[in-house]
Amino acid sequence: MQTLTITQPDDMHLHLRDGEALKAVLPYTARQMGRAVIMPNLKPPVVSVADAEAYKQRILAALPEGSAFEPLMTLYLTDNATPELVREAKAAGIVAFKLYPAGATTNSDSGVTDLFKLIPVLKEMAAQGILFLVHGEVTDADTDIFDREAAFIERIMKPVLVQVPELKVVFEHITTAEAARLVSEAGDNVAASVTPQHLLLNRNDLLVGGVRPHHFCLPVLKRETHRQALVAAVTGDKAHKFFLGTDSAPHAKSAKENACGCAGMFSAATAVELYAEVFENAGALDKFEAFASQNGARFYGLPENPRKITLVKDVQKVPESLPFCDGEVLVPMRAGGETAWRVEY
Ligand code: DOR
Ligand code: ZN
Repeated sequence: MQTLTITQPDDMHLHLRDGEALKAVLPYTARQMGRAVIMPNLKPPVVSVADAEAYKQRILAALPEGSAFEPLMTLYLTDNATPELVREAKAAGIVAFKLYPAGATTNSDSGVTDLFKLIPVLKEMAAQGILFLVHGEVTDADTDIFDREAAFIERIMKPVLVQVPELKVVFEHITTAEAARLVSEAGDNVAASVTPQHLLLNRNDLLVGGVRPHHFCLPVLKRETHRQALVAAVTGDKAHKFFLGTDSAPHAKSAKENACGCAGMFSAATAVELYAEVFENAGALDKFEAFASQNGARFYGLPENPRKITLVKDVQKVPESLPFCDGEVLVPMRAGGETAWRVEY
């Protein structure tokens, strides 16, 4: 049977939630990934160093016995952030600030209303070498949801990079050819994370034959040409600028299968397997380890993980649902289906 042994990956974009939900989902990531960049969009959001330190302790306490998994903590950028907060965060080992434009997605009400008012804060991030993680969508009602990422590039991302050219930016969960191109053509201070769903699915998977609420996430799935552009980016000449970030975002089944369904796909249970399929289908399995285990670590200035994981080319069933919290269940990505690879535990 074909096997593939690689350096243990990191998930550079992960939602773990808190409390019982955290306990339910963390073990899936901890068994695959060496580290993960933990998103701060809790209710209320993680805005101070003290919030992040307390959240980190709750994550460590929820880990299975003996796990060596390391959470990398981030702060939620608000209109009230200051250069001093940036210095404090850097000194405390916070790896990044996360931009949620106000109203862009789940728990983004405290997000930034005008990023250009925060230029001094961004300059301090550049000076301190702390990363700036961007949910890159505009939020005005006049911009079509499928165009929000491309509009963000022109209206926000490019002008910000002109004003703060040395800022280390991760364009998170990119979904469009425009974003892949911006990152490919930018300096080495600009990189991107890419999710399994945006590499494997297009908007037909969301809308054809009936609405599929479990395929609803933000940024929303785009047309097939964009998916192909993302696959080309993660396997192409500038592949070193792209890395694994699942955006695995658990919501209870009842909150997804709802008249107003929540955005987010839960992929953490089989993330590495799903990404392996992308690279295999593109004839680029030789580029998989760099994407999963090297490019992200290098961009974050971290050593590669000391451990290895082995994938076996063997069909693996994905459960219809997994236990969550409050008696609810979670529906994982590819629920009831199969992955072509499985990770040996
Ligand atoms: O689909 C999403 N879900 N996109 C986000 O940006 C946030 C996330 C969540 O927290 O549920
Ligand atoms: Zn996210």
